[in-house]
Amino acid sequence: MNKLNDLDSKTWLKFQKSWFIHNPPPRRKGVLVHPAKFPETMAQEFIEFFTKRGQTVLDPMAGTGSALVASLRCGRNSYGIELNPKYAEIARQIVTEERQLLGDSIANLKSEIVNGDASLAATYQFPAIDYVLTSPPYWDMLHAKGAETQKKRRSAAELDVFYSDDPNDVGNLHDYEEFVAKLVAIYSGLKPLLREKAYLTIIVKNIKKGGKIYPLAWDLGRELGKVYTLKDEKIWMQDNQRLAPFGLGSAWVSNTFHHYCLQFRNG
Ligand SMILES: C[S@@+](CC[C@H](N)C(=O)[O-])C[C@H]1O[C@@H](n2cnc3c(N)ncnc32)[C@H](O)[C@@H]1O
Repeated sequence: MNKLNDLDSKTWLKFQKSWFIHNPPPRRKGVLVHPAKFPETMAQEFIEFFTKRGQTVLDPMAGTGSALVASLRCGRNSYGIELNPKYAEIARQIVTEERQLLGDSIANLKSEIVNGDASLAATYQFPAIDYVLTSPPYWDMLHAKGAETQKKRRSAAELDVFYSDDPNDVGNLHDYEEFVAKLVAIYSGLKPLLREKAYLTIIVKNIKKGGKIYPLAWDLGRELGKVYTLKDEKIWMQDNQRLAPFGLGSAWVSNTFHHYCLQFRNG
């Protein structure tokens, strides 16, 4: 009996590879305004591995709601918390559209976005959560003046360059240690909501700033591994990005086209 998911052995085995390539499909118009999201198609693969139909998924930093859309598509209930009221509203709209598209088949599923602070998650009225799929702001990098993609976004007036000015937005913490501690506190605070043996997948990058690496993925693995069991990593690679000539002819500066999908388990 398969206790974890509804997958056949072939699909299960395929997911067990420690890396995958996923090039996000073009984003729909409404969500372009948000500076960083993970693709729904990829979220769905994680949700289908770590839950069964009818179970419940939480994204405590839901952005424009990709995890909720993916949950609907594979018959899971879902909850999201998003601090920025603008994104929370976009997420609600997108989820409503998806529900209309999917029709009666998903009428009994819940999908709910709370416009709130992830550090208060345990005080919101959520049912027991079977799986957390989430990705935090990559520190304060969206504030970095040189960030290439942000430069392009700045020239497109209606697109956001960073998430918000809210002091509770973890992307506005400029001290790295404080940022890591806050993230760890937020994810640890989800524990009372989680079922025993529930998995959490946190998608992060190590961060390059001022000519050195801040190993966010590794720091999070070490620190949050004291609260949950750090089970594994899975590397998400993109191979459709244009290479930039950083450091050409003078220094080693990589083009970083991979993210860590850190897998934790509650117990
Ligand atoms: C990387 S984005 C998440 C994108 C999301 N996975 C998606 O696919 O749309 C991180 C999000 O965290 C939100 N955020 C930052 N601090 C937060 C907090 N304390 N509570 C809830 N959301 C927060 C930001 O507004 C941003 O939308």
